[in-house]
Amino acid sequence: MRRWQMSTVALMLVWALAVGVGKEQSKKSQPFPLNLFAQATTESYIGEKECAQCHKTQAQTFNASPHALYVRNPKLPVEKRGCEACHGPGEIHLEDVKDLTKVVSFSKSKPKEISLACLRCHADTMRLSQWHRTSHAQSDVACTSCHQIHRDEKGNAGNREKLSKFFPSPLFATAPEPKALLKTDEVTLCGQCHQREVNEFRLNFHHPIPEGRMVCSDCHDVHPSKASQKRMRVVKDMCVTCHAEKSGPFVFEHDPVAGWTSEGCVECHRPHGSHNPRLLKAFSRGLCNQCHTDKGNNHYPGQSCWNVGCHVAVHGSNTDVWLRQP
Ligand code: HEC
Ligand code: HEC
Ligand code: HEC
Ligand code: HEC
Ligand code: HEC
Ligand code: HEC
Ligand code: HEC
Ligand code: HEC
Ligand code: HEC
Repeated sequence: MRRWQMSTVALMLVWALAVGVGKEQSKKSQPFPLNLFAQATTESYIGEKECAQCHKTQAQTFNASPHALYVRNPKLPVEKRGCEACHGPGEIHLEDVKDLTKVVSFSKSKPKEISLACLRCHADTMRLSQWHRTSHAQSDVACTSCHQIHRDEKGNAGNREKLSKFFPSPLFATAPEPKALLKTDEVTLCGQCHQREVNEFRLNFHHPIPEGRMVCSDCHDVHPSKASQKRMRVVKDMCVTCHAEKSGPFVFEHDPVAGWTSEGCVECHRPHGSHNPRLLKAFSRGLCNQCHTDKGNNHYPGQSCWNVGCHVAVHGSNTDVWLRQP
């Protein structure tokens, strides 16, 4: 063998060793519950039938999940099949059924661990890093705070708790049916923790959530992905997805509407509900006075600056620098 060939072989050996060791280490250093999947071999997976013998109720309640159809596809790799796709390899669980470091128990695992278990498959909804930056993740709200995987018509949630506990009657009678395996309709669900915001929709003027024509997630994205972050970054960009006529560009922009001041639309509007028509923060010239303190805007006494036929084009004008006509 030539010298360079020998050194190449040696290098490859060193590389192979390094990779091998690296793999060993990464198997061990994976956080729970990914370590269970990393340790497992094909034989560690015992199949859904085995689980069903000891966990009859859960095996039944799982049938109604849209996941059932998916994880029963025999073409999938073993670690994505059956109950074990979420709860981890059965062989390790059976080493000691009481040991909660050997099985993924969604009712007892930490929120962070739950997100790891779910995002093994749901990386297309969002990346782990994106989820962990949300104030929900940081406040220990877990995927399973909002989503319910096992369920049946009898109300057994599969974790020994009755679904009725999760399904309180809707806050608003017209609430659309829950979707996406949510524990209850969105407003009632969010309202369990955000009572104050839900109450804002009870004010005289509000976005039509009580009427069942909108849901919280029309404006809030609980699962930040790249595309949604772009959409939600500026409040204005979010609002004009529905109120396109306010987006301009206008020949004469009004700075706060154009989003050139920090808050954009919410400089003047309350997003949820308000005592004032048009969801305005104030229904008087005080609204404009927030910023135009220097303009001597006591000219033309009237109820407001826009309702006396003056600055009617508050959102921007194509003809008048003083925003007096569209
Ligand atoms: C031989 C019977 C048996 C088999 C087979 C079995 N388990 Fe278990 N499992 C148990 C027992 C017993 C417990 C402990 C229950 C307890 O502590 O109350 C348990 C606990 C669990 C828990 C945690 C329960 C909790 O209260 O948090 C989960 C999740 C679980 N098993 C899922 C599975 C899955 C998935 C399978 C199939 C891969 C499986 N089990 C196979 C007997 C079994
Ligand atoms: C898509 C993920 C997923 C699959 C697949 C799945 N489960 Fe679950 N399981 C959960 C979640 C999440 C909970 C917590 C309660 C809930 O949300 O329904 C749970 C709860 C349980 C519990 C109660 C202990 C706990 O973890 O809270 C047992 C036992 C259980 N499942 C067994 C099974 C069995 C048996 C199967 C297969 C027939 C199965 N699971 C399939 C996600 C899954
Ligand atoms: C083995 C991969 C896998 C795991 C693990 C998994 N999911 Fe899923 N999930 C899927 C697939 C695939 C679908 C699409 C099913 C369909 O619509 O046919 C889905 C659908 C969903 C949906 C949408 C259902 C609907 O009606 O639109 C929700 C919500 C969901 N999963 C939440 C979770 C949560 C929460 C967890 C963790 C407890 C989890 N998933 C774990 C693969 C997985
Ligand atoms: C604060 C409540 C809440 C939490 C926590 C939450 N979700 Fe959701 N999820 C929702 C709502 C609301 C929808 C339906 C509206 C939408 O698509 O944004 C949804 C929809 C989904 C869907 C179906 C739509 C899609 O984007 O593919 C999946 C999958 C999903 N969630 C997975 C997860 C996973 C995984 C976690 C944990 C990492 C999680 N969710 C945490 C509220 C929540
Ligand atoms: C289990 C309780 C819980 C549920 C359910 C819940 N949240 Fe939250 N939410 C929190 C906590 C805790 C925070 C962080 C502390 C705070 O700002 O109040 C938070 C923060 C928020 C924030 C502020 C975000 C920020 O960056 O400051 C918004 C918006 C929000 N949640 C919307 C929702 C929506 C929409 C739903 C329903 C799909 C929902 N939440 C369901 C507990 C919850
Ligand atoms: C029309 C769009 C829209 C809808 C619908 C909506 N929100 Fe909001 N929400 C916003 C905007 C915009 C903000 C930021 C307000 C600000 O910065 O002044 C906000 C702020 C919040 C906050 C944070 C409040 C704070 O003090 O930090 C929570 C929590 C919240 N919304 C919950 C909800 C819930 C729950 C629902 C459904 C019942 C909902 N929102 C529906 C647009 C909306
Ligand atoms: C998902 C679509 C959607 C989004 C996003 C949205 N809105 Fe609306 N908005 C509506 C609907 C629907 C109505 C009710 C119109 C009706 O009753 O005919 C409405 C009504 C209003 C009204 C009252 C109109 C009137 O004639 O009284 C104002 C003001 C308003 N929205 C401002 C905003 C602001 C500011 C934002 C961003 C924080 C926003 N909207 C985001 C759909 C949306
Ligand atoms: C400088 C304050 C101000 C800002 C910033 C502002 N608005 Fe308005 N908006 C108003 C006033 C004042 C009215 C009432 C006009 C009327 O009744 O003729 C109004 C009315 C509305 C209406 C209902 C009437 C109509 O013209 O359709 C909608 C929808 C609306 N605004 C959306 C938005 C959106 C979206 C943004 C952000 C792009 C925004 N507004 C920013 C002051 C403002
Ligand atoms: C959040 C701050 C803010 C609010 C609230 C606000 N404006 Fe403005 N407005 C501005 C800024 C910034 C400009 C452009 C810079 C300037 O010349 O002052 C502007 C410009 C204008 C102009 C163009 C003439 C000029 O001075 O350049 C008119 C007219 C005007 N605003 C009317 C109104 C009316 C009417 C209201 C109430 C419905 C209102 N503004 C509320 C910040 C605001």
